[in-house]
Amino acid sequence: FAVVASLDLCPRPLIVAHRGASGHAVENSLPAFQKAIELGAEMTELDVWRLKDGTIVVHHDSDLKRLSDTEGKIEDYTLEDLNQVMLAGAYKIPRLRDVLMLVDKRMMINVELKGANTAEGTYELIREFIDNHGWKIEDFQISSFRHDELKRMRELSPDIDIAILPHGNPLDALAVAQEVGAIAINAYHGGLTKESVDAIHAAGLLVNAWTVNEKADMRRLRDLGVDGFITNYPDRVRALD
Ligand code: G3P
Ligand code: CA
Repeated sequence: FAVVASLDLCPRPLIVAHRGASGHAVENSLPAFQKAIELGAEMTELDVWRLKDGTIVVHHDSDLKRLSDTEGKIEDYTLEDLNQVMLAGAYKIPRLRDVLMLVDKRMMINVELKGANTAEGTYELIREFIDNHGWKIEDFQISSFRHDELKRMRELSPDIDIAILPHGNPLDALAVAQEVGAIAINAYHGGLTKESVDAIHAAGLLVNAWTVNEKADMRRLRDLGVDGFITNYPDRVRALD
């Protein structure tokens, strides 16, 4: 299993499970995070929304339709109501709190802030786990396409790692990366070239690529010097020759 290490101590490329080991288990479910640990992921990415009652929960889509036995905007639910909703396999949608309890420092966590107003509740929980459960601030990375949420996160924490999710050309994200003091740009793998990877590195930032599932892509990106692979298949990165 993966021992939590700071980013600096991990071998490259860093293996980041995408929505847990979502190639092997229901995405963003507790079994997917358990599987990611078993497959040797050093970090897991996950997506969060804020419920009507303020609870931060882990789910990819804004609507429940694709992944559950019901439909409707997840942000309109309370935790009590959401507990009646089932994912495939009769799993519940976990709270971020549930995932942190399960992982228990065995992987780092990349929280993608999917919903509006998620920075504060997420940071509050991170503080709680640092203060009471032995986590370190270095165990967390915050990413988002919502750059306003990343700015809010930086106001809340001067030292938490932030990664920018670009809307298009990753190089267009360099300005906001500088503004929020990001450590990385997490970019769509197909848009990365030698030039863009080199330019991001020259700006002093790491490059993590998503969602890298095929070995041929892994080899191409490794040759470009990409620092981390966000993948549904952590096992394929481990087995890369
Ligand atoms: O972390 C980056 C990646 O997960 C963004 O795309 O749609 O999988 O959340 P998506
Ligand atoms: Ca995501």
